[in-house]
Amino acid sequence: MVPGGAKRGESLGDPHLTSHFSLYNIPMPKSRTQYVCQQCGRISAQYMGRCPQCGSWNSMVEEVVAAPSAAKRGAARGLAGQAGPQRLSEIGGDADERLPLSMGEFARVLGGGVVPGSIVLIGGDPGIGKSTLLLQVALSLARQSPVLYVSGEESTRQIKMRALRLLRDSGDGMASQTIPEDLFLVTETNLETILEHVAQIQPRLLVVDSIQTTSIPELESSAGSVSQVRESAARLRELAKSSGIAVFLIGHVTKEGAIAGPRVLEHIVDTVLYLEGDRFQSYRLLRSVKNRFGATSEVGVFEMGERGMAEVSNPSEAFLAERMVNAPGSAIAVTMEGTRPLLVEVQGLTSPTAFGNPRRTPNGVDINRLLLVTAVLSRRVGVRLGDQDVFVNVVGGLQVEEPAADLAVAAAIASSARNAPVRADTVLIGEVGLSGELRMVGQMPARLREAANLGFKTAVVPKRMRRGEAWPDGIQVQEARSLRQALEMALLGKEESRE
Ligand code: TYD
Ligand code: MG
Repeated sequence: MVPGGAKRGESLGDPHLTSHFSLYNIPMPKSRTQYVCQQCGRISAQYMGRCPQCGSWNSMVEEVVAAPSAAKRGAARGLAGQAGPQRLSEIGGDADERLPLSMGEFARVLGGGVVPGSIVLIGGDPGIGKSTLLLQVALSLARQSPVLYVSGEESTRQIKMRALRLLRDSGDGMASQTIPEDLFLVTETNLETILEHVAQIQPRLLVVDSIQTTSIPELESSAGSVSQVRESAARLRELAKSSGIAVFLIGHVTKEGAIAGPRVLEHIVDTVLYLEGDRFQSYRLLRSVKNRFGATSEVGVFEMGERGMAEVSNPSEAFLAERMVNAPGSAIAVTMEGTRPLLVEVQGLTSPTAFGNPRRTPNGVDINRLLLVTAVLSRRVGVRLGDQDVFVNVVGGLQVEEPAADLAVAAAIASSARNAPVRADTVLIGEVGLSGELRMVGQMPARLREAANLGFKTAVVPKRMRRGEAWPDGIQVQEARSLRQALEMALLGKEESRE
């Protein structure tokens, strides 16, 4: 509604509105200066000591923006709007056309393979294995179609040596693989030169390692700054959309996010994958946090080994491999990583506090969940923890965020405090409430089926308040209303553990 009650037609002549519109018709200056927050990417016309978006101090850096040439602007328009709107039914392109990958886990996280013309960002801490993983993908795809791997971080010789290592004979009798004909490598950081290489080689897949080393010389900021990273990514997206080439960008995440990280790129790309894991552990999780072509929060599990990243097709088994059966302080939780249930071992240890306040040390679980669980254990169940340090560890370097793991965390702690093992063939699923009650969690059937598949005989779960479908076969389900009751079911008694 236009203020003053004017009808819609009249507002067209409104002098305020016309002057407003003409604002947008101001001719673009040749180049201008802007200030970009290096923490969050906020752009401002003036310098500000404190970024209004993320609140960090002195993070604004002056950058000169070159006005795009007329030809480039035309090209961009041609890309976006070709010939005006088209009928949905007449738009070509088979939605299911994907480049197949020999790495099933990677393909699954992408939603079933590489989509031509898509742009995918793979983020992760330095040294976690991004280059290794993408070189493996490149090696495998290059057996079918040309692949260009551009590195701004390593020489082509280094990459070749890594490739040879990845293709090496595994010693299990399988012949070592040959080097694919159609994998092209180049060390380059100038985006314009990269685009020339792409035009010459015409790959199906382009890997850019990393987006932080790629730069456009005409932008007068240094490589790795927010505007360089964002502009490079935007141009690579144009390349992907106009040519149908699939583009993989590698982006480093730094702890403080000080260098322009994958965060500022998330809205530019189609898919964002994060490679996570503990650097001191061999397991790596590839997690999709955004995907225009598939489900998000899908997770693939890999193990970094001698010959690069190996798929772990049965991760639960791997995470439980080193478990000591019948040792106090160990419990099995079933958590969901995306749509996939994962069995993990949660370890607890209590030990008398030497001096001062008792400590609560979580590794792999949220500190607040740990504090809640210990408080409920001491107040509602009667496990004395007031003079005990409590340590909790999730085996395998996994980070478990879900409240569904509460029960296993509680059982691991109680088991250590009472020196009574948790039954070896039992999994524990459930959220712990403040009154000591056990609360239902989602996707129970999937969790129970995975536990049954791995040979677990019993599951202790929250009591169902609504009648649902029957529990899955193959596992005996014990329902508990409270944490106290659940622990009675799960922990071996004194006589039993002596057997
Ligand atoms: P890299 O892929 O270079 O990490 P990013 O690109 O994410 O920085 O991986 C580096 C680490 O991986 C390095 O510590 C060595 C290790 N690695 C293996 O353990 N096995 C292998 O086969 C390869 C190639 C690397
Ligand atoms: Mg790397």
